[in-house]
Amino acid sequence: MNLTLQQNELDVQKIRAQFPALHQTVYGKPLIYFDNAATTQKPQVVLDALLHYYQHDNANVHRGIHALADRATEALEATRKTVQRFIHAAETTEIIFTSGATAGINLVASSYGQQFIQAGDEVIISHMEHHANIVPWQMLCQAKGAQLRVIPISDTGELIMPAFEELLTARTKIVAITYASNTLGTINPIKEIIAKAHASGAIVVVDAAQAAPHLAIDVQDLDCDFLAFSAHKVYGPTGVGVLYGKGALLEHIPPYQGGGEMIKEVTLEGTTYNEIPYKFEAGTPNIADIIAFRAALAFMQATGQATISKHEEQLLTYANNQLNQLKKLRLIGTAPCKIGVVSFTIADMHHLDVGMLLDAHGIAARSGHGCTQPLMQRFGLEGVIRVSFAMYNTLEEVAQLVAAIAKITRQS
Ligand SMILES: Cc1ncc(COP(=O)(O)O)c(C=O)c1O
Repeated sequence: MNLTLQQNELDVQKIRAQFPALHQTVYGKPLIYFDNAATTQKPQVVLDALLHYYQHDNANVHRGIHALADRATEALEATRKTVQRFIHAAETTEIIFTSGATAGINLVASSYGQQFIQAGDEVIISHMEHHANIVPWQMLCQAKGAQLRVIPISDTGELIMPAFEELLTARTKIVAITYASNTLGTINPIKEIIAKAHASGAIVVVDAAQAAPHLAIDVQDLDCDFLAFSAHKVYGPTGVGVLYGKGALLEHIPPYQGGGEMIKEVTLEGTTYNEIPYKFEAGTPNIADIIAFRAALAFMQATGQATISKHEEQLLTYANNQLNQLKKLRLIGTAPCKIGVVSFTIADMHHLDVGMLLDAHGIAARSGHGCTQPLMQRFGLEGVIRVSFAMYNTLEEVAQLVAAIAKITRQS
């Protein structure tokens, strides 16, 4: 098979040239980076934006009247605008900068939960959630005397939708669900879930940490109430995330943290709060990284979400076909509709050993529970080996992965 001829219109080599970290060897082998669901590598434009900010515009935002403060504020607000377009939000005021998807989900659990959840209410999550979309809801339920309900999943790693419909009752106040699973790769029928939850009177919080790098997101079309994701999984810096919330909801929930920026007026007797989104952005934000995040989104948009998705789909299909031919390998997560995430186990081998052996081949894969311990329990596993694709991965790299596994398992 001529792997080069199989590439679609994405010029992968041109893309790769823009990611400095990809051009290194590990233990003398060229790096193959397949840990993209954990974090992606950063293109040069993101690194340049970070350096440029610190070299030229470094100042605190929203407070100063000097030139640098103006430039920093303008650049930060430009990112908000870019994020708004990226997820098709109606207003920039609906875009809150957080430190990541985890922080965004915690914000909703805390603020919305404080305002609207009472004893006897129910919150629905699914069995495939990342810990970031489990623990905040457990904490909320515990604090309020509410109940956590869990949508079961099938052996292929898909939500059992009739079970979801049965769980939905007048007691359900929140449905918190991942758009795409970080371990199984499953893309959930999120629009259908949102419509059903709304029909039952519940709001929906979408964990889009794994969807944002791979799927076009339109919060208005989805009609989700909240949606969270992290910059570092979409080629941006660490320490930045986005929480989208419908304006009307954000207006009606209390602030998450108190401090500078989130206030209108403070007296020793009390405080009035700033407008949205600033009401939810207490303290100095992660200015440099938020500004550089814009370069990451621009980079993705320039490449084109449809082109990226098509390329990653090709990698996924090839990986599935090749890995399926290896005798001792068991794929975990075989839903027909998936992002480029492949998890597997190998008979008679511990996942950590496989991870270390792949590392020795220069292949960065993830080994462990993937922050989805309940999912591991569902499949009777302690952990899996996970490879996850980004726009810069190639079919040749997948072929090398398959060859490395064949060698490790003595099938070649
Ligand atoms: C599905 C999902 N949700 C939430 C998170 C948490 O993201 P972060 O650690 O960037 O806050 C992750 C990270 O791996 C994830 O995969």
